Amino acid sequence: MPRAAAIIRAGGLVAFPTETVYGLGANAFDAPAVARIFEAKGRPTFDPLIVHIAVRADLTRLFTDDALADPRITILADAFWPGALTIVAAARPEVPGLVRAGLDTVGVRLPRHETALALIRAAGTPIAAPSANRFGRLSPTTADHVLEQLDGRIDAILLGEATDIGVESSVVALDSSGPVRLLRHGGIPLEDLARVLADHGGIVAVAPTAQPGVPLQAPGMTESHYAPVVPLLLVTGEFPAGVTECALLAPDRATLTQLEGLAAASGATVHASVVLSEALDPVAAAAHLFERLHDLEAILLRSAVPAAKIIAAPYPEGGLGSAIADRLRRAAATPQ
Ligand code: TXA
Ligand code: MG
Repeated sequence: MPRAAAIIRAGGLVAFPTETVYGLGANAFDAPAVARIFEAKGRPTFDPLIVHIAVRADLTRLFTDDALADPRITILADAFWPGALTIVAAARPEVPGLVRAGLDTVGVRLPRHETALALIRAAGTPIAAPSANRFGRLSPTTADHVLEQLDGRIDAILLGEATDIGVESSVVALDSSGPVRLLRHGGIPLEDLARVLADHGGIVAVAPTAQPGVPLQAPGMTESHYAPVVPLLLVTGEFPAGVTECALLAPDRATLTQLEGLAAASGATVHASVVLSEALDPVAAAAHLFERLHDLEAILLRSAVPAAKIIAAPYPEGGLGSAIADRLRRAAATPQ
């Protein structure tokens, strides 16, 4: 355990059992470490990750004070923590954008499994962890499943008691108004959640109910994804006609220089220029992608030019680069 905790603190990846499925964990506040999770899983897109804590007091590091003032957090935590429930609420700004996939919210779970709790305590930090499977494969419920899929791609795997629930946690979202929303069916049945919340505004199921014999829907299908308020255009060859005010975003320095040349030639005013990493480093790029997009958006909104656009060069496909490319495509406005 001390070795696994040291790996987490040093920015490495540790697979660990929980009572639902095995997780693939990294320090939730270390954005490059979190980027490596996506790289190891081969996820072609970024889905928000669940942050695992060992003591409820750590919620103050993850949720905003406003979110924590909602009594339903205590009601749900008293009833179902430690256990298979993930609570989604407004995130503190310190939670890396990659953990939240650019959303304003973060999902948090206090698991019951002793090995998971021991790892979080020993590491001294909340641990972000998706299920420890390669993209598109089944969630792992044994260490063998994890090794089959991730051997050579992670730094350590903790052995422990079997995962007894075998399906992922139920995910609920708390908004400042309206009933709790069930985003994903999981280890805690809807009926149990509804009973506990009956006198507190109830719960509505956003996730379709699982049919007998049909696997639970893939996680990541229910959440909405970040898209900039300011239009983003992906450009390859030519600078888009009619864009006079812009901010530039490029995968690396060389591409940014090209974009700057195109912008200058077209006479556009450039309010900010950002590279995702100096040389093409997908881990570093992924780690700060959402923060960079937010920064550019903020700069353009401050410049108060209504027609301003983010002009981005596409990210090269391959490995983690495909996930970055996917998010840029999704963020891109439909062309004109
Ligand atoms: O039981 C589990 O939940 C396991 C163990 C390891 O804890 N983890 C897990 O993580 O299933 P993953 O990455 O496979 O699923 C996380 C899902 C996301 O795809 C999304 O559906 C939901 O949780 N989620 C997480 N954060 C969210 C957020 N801020 N807003 C909406 N949904 C969120
Ligand atoms: Mg999963």
